[in-house]
Amino acid sequence: MMRVNRRTFLNQGMTITIGLFVALWNKITLNQIKLGKQRKHIFPFDKNKSITFIDDFIIINRDNQTQVFRAHCTHLGCKINQATTDKLVCPCHGSEYDLNGQVLKGPAYKNLNIMKSSISEDGSQIEIEA
Ligand code: FES
Repeated sequence: MMRVNRRTFLNQGMTITIGLFVALWNKITLNQIKLGKQRKHIFPFDKNKSITFIDDFIIINRDNQTQVFRAHCTHLGCKINQATTDKLVCPCHGSEYDLNGQVLKGPAYKNLNIMKSSISEDGSQIEIEA
């Protein structure tokens, strides 16, 4: 039977720890790179509709201005899919946001994420960067 001395044991332990750290670091940084890539999403646009839930986005159209928010609640990420005339409501734990994406009622405490968007020249499509 082979005996492992203390030094060898520590060296192997250190090697395994460093290997795990490097693997974890790679995973984290690769995720960051993926997050850094922006994708463009194009959807039909109806300027007469004040609130549109589409895919992972909420399009708010009022006073001739259009704002797009990510539809995921900032509390635990549920998809917001309900609205009244003046607020957006998360179905999971009841957080509410005004139509500017500002938190009105928790448990969420961060405002909705605003997405970059542009409307096509003919006004029929909206392009969202996400
Ligand atoms: S996930 Fe929206 S309130 Fe909890």
